[in-house]
Amino acid sequence: MSDQTELRKKAAQTRQATALAHPNIAFIKYWGNQDHALRLPINPSLSMNLGALFTQTTVIFDDSLSHDSLTINQQDYTLDDPAYQRVRHHVDIVREWTNISTHARIESSSNFPVGSGIASSAAAFAALSVASSAAAGLTLTEAQLSQLARRGSGSASRSVPTGYCEWTLGNDVDSVAVSIAPPNFWDLQDVVVVVSQEHKAVGSTGGHRLADTSSLQSARVAGADDRLTRCREALLARDLVSMGAIIEEDAVIMHGVMMSSQPPLYYWNAGTMRIIQATQQWRAEGLPVYFTIDAGPNVHLICESAHVQAVVSAAKQLPEVQDVLVSGPGGPARLV
Ligand code: PMV
Repeated sequence: MSDQTELRKKAAQTRQATALAHPNIAFIKYWGNQDHALRLPINPSLSMNLGALFTQTTVIFDDSLSHDSLTINQQDYTLDDPAYQRVRHHVDIVREWTNISTHARIESSSNFPVGSGIASSAAAFAALSVASSAAAGLTLTEAQLSQLARRGSGSASRSVPTGYCEWTLGNDVDSVAVSIAPPNFWDLQDVVVVVSQEHKAVGSTGGHRLADTSSLQSARVAGADDRLTRCREALLARDLVSMGAIIEEDAVIMHGVMMSSQPPLYYWNAGTMRIIQATQQWRAEGLPVYFTIDAGPNVHLICESAHVQAVVSAAKQLPEVQDVLVSGPGGPARLV
């Protein structure tokens, strides 16, 4: 019996489970939904799990509880907190799938700081999906786990399979992520350059709803398939020069949509622009490194492991840089 099967059996018996999941960085971005409630994306996307970073979540179904309880990084959440309601809603889906009404104790912690420019919701909802479904006694396929995770946070669908993952369009059942290459296929590194630790005013759930208000969104979506195909081909050929150009283009197009939405979303600050210009300069000097940026000001610098030290020390010399985190590719969401 595999270690995951054994852990799942134990979870079903004890009605409790602990799971670990990594966040991911998108090379081709998801921005906008066809269906907001189901989080069915308007375009396919492609990402890499970040192995050095993780969220670990324990779910315990307990008949003595009168409501769910939630603790994140040692902080208890009240019932009216939006984060609590989002998590409760997610566990409600699992309760629906299993036909149980028992409440749960949910405890979660991450080894990366909030506000570091890492989409914490991806790891959080991937880990919550694996832990809560196992504790409820469900045996789900990887595709079903990716579907479930997607309902909590779209990008969480990509934190379920291993390594490099592609999330495709489809209906509720088939809009899921699959692995296109394992972590050891290519030792790419994400050097996360933190230029602000402020909490963003508009999160991605709100941002996806604004995407359609930009006249640039239709052009972004029209070109997404082609960018994804070229990015996948470059990735599978381990061709960073081709892939780097595509990921920069894709990130900038997404930010063009954000900045031209109504109301506009300006996630960049002066530090963001400074890192973009520095990246171009480092490249001109012979350092192969490319940027991508999620829904925030911090910049993810993508390079091969041979160049990671050079990228980190170059970044640390810039006065705008507050912190630097480094991660290579990571494995799937799993019971621990
Ligand atoms: O999964 P969400 O709702 O947090 O959206 C993620 C949006 C981006 O990080 C900007 C892009 C992506 O594909 O991860």
